Amino acid sequence: MDIQNLIRSRRTIHDYVSEDFISRDDIKSIIETACWAPNHHLTEPWHYYLLGQETIDEVCELNRSILLETKGKEVAEEKTERWKKIPGWLVVTCNKSNDQLRFMEDYAACACAMQNIMLSLWEKGFGSKWSTGEITRKKEFYDSVWIDQSLEQIMGILWYGKPDLIPQTARQPVAQFITELP
Ligand SMILES: Cc1cc2nc3c(=O)[nH]c(=O)nc-3n(C[C@H](O)[C@H](O)[C@H](O)COP(=O)(O)O)c2cc1C
Repeated sequence: MDIQNLIRSRRTIHDYVSEDFISRDDIKSIIETACWAPNHHLTEPWHYYLLGQETIDEVCELNRSILLETKGKEVAEEKTERWKKIPGWLVVTCNKSNDQLRFMEDYAACACAMQNIMLSLWEKGFGSKWSTGEITRKKEFYDSVWIDQSLEQIMGILWYGKPDLIPQTARQPVAQFITELP
């Protein structure tokens, strides 16, 4: 697929089939490529946490307990069942910095890396979803995935796998976002 079509056709995937996995080696290779994102001062501010089953189970249970308190039993059970079916779990972080400009630039570089991962997955026939749900800001979540909250900021969870359903989205006509200057 050429780059224009790759970017345009990629969709956020909410539903995955459970049978078809991407290999650990392939996902590591995709991450290696993602690190070629533009990055001011080459700070290489990212870290990628590839979750195994034990950690996934722990995170699902944590989310269940959060939802039980906030949304009730029915929602908690329904969402936990859905989460348990998600095949691939990656958490991406950005190093924190006391220098606000540096953090902003590092965060931007990590976002580029996230997009790189999503596009590489799409090219191989795999979908993904970048999630910044409430759990990603909880101290207990940082602890579950062994991330030191004083040093790293979670960019999001990146779920990935073979799409079951590819949703449609639309974009506004681009003319309104373009200003041509003399
Ligand atoms: C920083 C960021 C955070 C996101 N967090 C969520 C999320 O928490 N839940 C969700 O359903 N989608 C999330 N998304 C996905 C967007 O909702 C999605 O990109 C948007 O609906 C456009 O759909 P598309 O990616 O298929 O073009 C997030 C996307 C970005 C860039």
